Amino acid sequence: MSITDQLVSLRDEGLAAIAGASDLATLDVVRVTYLGKKGSLTGILRGLGGLAAEERPAAGKVSNDVRVALEAALEERRALLAASALEARIGAEAIDVTLPGRSRPVGSRHLIEQIRAEVVDIFLGLGYRIAEGPEVELDYYNFTALNTPPDHPARSLQDTFYVRDLSGETAAVDSESDVLLRTHTSPVQVRVMEHQKPPIYVLAPGKVYRRDIADPSHLPQFTQIEGLVVDEGITFGDLKGTLDHVCKAIFGPDRRTRFRPHFFPFTEPSAEVDVSCGICGGEGCRFCKGTGWLEILGCGMVDPNVFGYAGIDSEKYSGFAFGMGVERIAALKYNIPDLRMLLEGDMRFLRQF
Ligand code: DAH
Repeated sequence: MSITDQLVSLRDEGLAAIAGASDLATLDVVRVTYLGKKGSLTGILRGLGGLAAEERPAAGKVSNDVRVALEAALEERRALLAASALEARIGAEAIDVTLPGRSRPVGSRHLIEQIRAEVVDIFLGLGYRIAEGPEVELDYYNFTALNTPPDHPARSLQDTFYVRDLSGETAAVDSESDVLLRTHTSPVQVRVMEHQKPPIYVLAPGKVYRRDIADPSHLPQFTQIEGLVVDEGITFGDLKGTLDHVCKAIFGPDRRTRFRPHFFPFTEPSAEVDVSCGICGGEGCRFCKGTGWLEILGCGMVDPNVFGYAGIDSEKYSGFAFGMGVERIAALKYNIPDLRMLLEGDMRFLRQF
């Protein structure tokens, strides 16, 4: 076969290979095969040297035409394959802007925390300050200094978690020790009075612990808000006015309060406060067990014996105190039938508030 024939069949073969290349990588292999340094065309051109001088120009021209034809076909095919590769990529990466966005859940404060903050806010507005005390408390502050004698039923092992004191700083007796988990926030009253002179207007929110089995109306750990006022000339009327204002601020202006005589060791006289039922408006329904009233807190005038323990002159000063349960307020405000729901962490429940 003459060189010219070889060149023509090389061209046809190359053009067919180019047309058959289905992607850019294959096309590049074709390019190297035909036009590369060790490719077929170069191989044939090497043979040009062996031609007679008069045949060379014609053969040279044909070889040049073949190279130009192959290069043009390569470029055309490359552009085509590149365009369809781009199209495929765009298709694969396409974003469907008609899809609805993913909504991210927004966190919020737990209901217990919301009520605590709400009540704190009401009292800050009345000029009270926030006080704190330890959750692991001494028997003295939890009971003794609150006028709760050793034989009082509240001290029973059934109600109190005692803590074994390993420091040796307190006189620990076998099962019962002088260290316990506070059963109420009332010990903060004594701690405040030990360190602060009247006038005292403090609010002490915090966790408390009792040896109760959790049921719809009891939790072994819950939250109380304690209040204490000590000043000259404080009367039961101040207590009533304050708590009536607070109950209306928490539950709504149309709610009424009533004070029922009660007993607490650390107040005299003592009372329990009821708020009118929000479901029946006071008519009596299942929620208020037909009474029209819901009990929400305990309170009273500070017992002079407590002032005695705390070193406050009960001839000069008088005061009132109160304690309310945050979980109970939450349950009454939002008709929650079981206090345990507050601690279960079920978002379907918690998201409602
Ligand atoms: N500490 C009481 C309890 O846990 C509640 C209470 C009643 C607190 C009367 C007071 C009060 O400050 O005056 O049941």
